[in-house]
Amino acid sequence: VHNNSNNASFFVANEIADLIRQRQKEGKKLVLGLATGSTPTKAYDFLVKFHKEEGLSFKNVITFNLDEYFPMEADSIHSYVRFMNEHLFDHIDIKKENINIPNGRLDREDVREFCDDYEKKIQDAGGIDIQVLGIGRTGHIGFNEPGSSLTSKTRLVRLDRVTRLDAASDFFGLENVPTRAITMGVGTIMAAKKIILMAWGEGKSIIVKEAVEGPIRESVPATFLQNHPNCSFVIDEAAASELT
Ligand code: F6R
Repeated sequence: VHNNSNNASFFVANEIADLIRQRQKEGKKLVLGLATGSTPTKAYDFLVKFHKEEGLSFKNVITFNLDEYFPMEADSIHSYVRFMNEHLFDHIDIKKENINIPNGRLDREDVREFCDDYEKKIQDAGGIDIQVLGIGRTGHIGFNEPGSSLTSKTRLVRLDRVTRLDAASDFFGLENVPTRAITMGVGTIMAAKKIILMAWGEGKSIIVKEAVEGPIRESVPATFLQNHPNCSFVIDEAAASELT
């Protein structure tokens, strides 16, 4: 628990940067799982700062984003492609071919094959070394809404009404929020070697308590993280306020 989200984000960015540098020294790649949304933006700002001011290089980094709305054009203001470019990729030296984000522009009949390929690509890259997560008020990680099983893999899902309501202002109305998304599964996330979940503010305090202290169950997918051997919740005091 950090006293504010700025310090917490600095801590997370440093954890990532240290591992990038360590792998670089060993001449190895680092596979990074990334999230979008309001939570990780400060950590991405710090990574950009480390790149610009300290020469942190992302040439040995491969990224896999958790999710994308479906359908979604890549150049839409709402796309996670655009989000990632704006907050991170446009400002660092990552190779374009090392960036992976679920494709929201596919024909419906091609989605299954794309999702299977996404899983295979993660495996071929050697698996995810660090997965960055936020948490939704439904207890979702990625877009694994209540009811997602522990073994779920990358797939097309329906978004919970609460999740769509939370996105409504960004989309200028609930009716404009997509009803579906492509997301890595709980099983995909659980296979990561290290997981860092971030959460800020009082609005997340009840779901953080549920995720950390509640019984492990499909109705709160984040509770599955309790069984991960190397998962930390990096949170601010407000998000920690309901913890016993
Ligand atoms: C985003 C994602 C979601 C968000 C969650 C929290 O890629 O997978 O699980 O992390 O909805 O969103 P924010 O950070 O906007 O509160």
